[in-house]
Amino acid sequence: KQSAGIGNIPIGETASGSAPASSTRTLISGERTIARPLHDMTKGVILAGGLGIRLHPLTKVTNKHLLPVFDRPMIYYPLETLKSLGITNILIVSGREHAEHFIALFGSGREYGVQLLYAVQDKAGGIAQALGLAEDFAQSGTSLAVILGDNVFENCDEQFRRAVQEFPASAEEAKLFFKEREDASRFGVATIADGRLIEIIEKPENPKSNFAQVGFYLYKPAIFPHIKTLTPSARGELELTDLNNIFVRRGTAGYEILSGEWFDTGTLESLHRAHLYFARKRFPPSEL
Ligand code: G1P
Repeated sequence: KQSAGIGNIPIGETASGSAPASSTRTLISGERTIARPLHDMTKGVILAGGLGIRLHPLTKVTNKHLLPVFDRPMIYYPLETLKSLGITNILIVSGREHAEHFIALFGSGREYGVQLLYAVQDKAGGIAQALGLAEDFAQSGTSLAVILGDNVFENCDEQFRRAVQEFPASAEEAKLFFKEREDASRFGVATIADGRLIEIIEKPENPKSNFAQVGFYLYKPAIFPHIKTLTPSARGELELTDLNNIFVRRGTAGYEILSGEWFDTGTLESLHRAHLYFARKRFPPSEL
């Protein structure tokens, strides 16, 4: 794991512009000068908006991402995932009803070893709209690692870390990850032919594969103009899947099949599964 210590130091970034892919960037922190590898410039975005309707009444007054997944609020998990990739410069996008709760929980992020900024989505208009709010934040960064606030990953660090390292120098505009799931139809589902990603279909009734889209994405900052071209889907939201399909069609979307564990904790059943998974790691079966 990347040392959590890096993020404990308040970092004043002194260099700007783009560096060659193989280089390092020099950052000044207090009296120390730290050479950081290029992928450390990747910024993180946690998308934690939405109404959590599928979890009512649990989410009537509380935000979904603050509900417990075993011993921690759900949003701790994606935060930890980014941090373990060495990504400590993070924007949390949430709805206006709950933005203050995230600030109360994390503050500046200093005690968690990260630097946090917050953006507010006035109305739940979809995760692509929420991502659009990261445009200013992204401007000085090379790439963005975007993670959905209800996605919990285990043993994916190595794969994600390699992808985060390779992505900035690649020609890809987006890197997507899929995981084989029996219940793929409740996710974005990839159509893959001869190893080529052809299309992603959001929540298809009859999925053409079992490859479900997981909520971890790498993007170049050049994606933002494309977000502005999106129109609302049948559920009235700007869909990340529509954005990703733009890159699939342009031939600039890379993909990988995820080998670690993945939980989307946005439904009661999947939330319960995640609870059990982490509880079983801590307690013997007889105590559960
Ligand atoms: C969202 C995305 C979907 C993706 C899923 C992963 O679905 O739209 O493509 O597979 O997250 O968690 P939602 O949770 O908004 O229904």
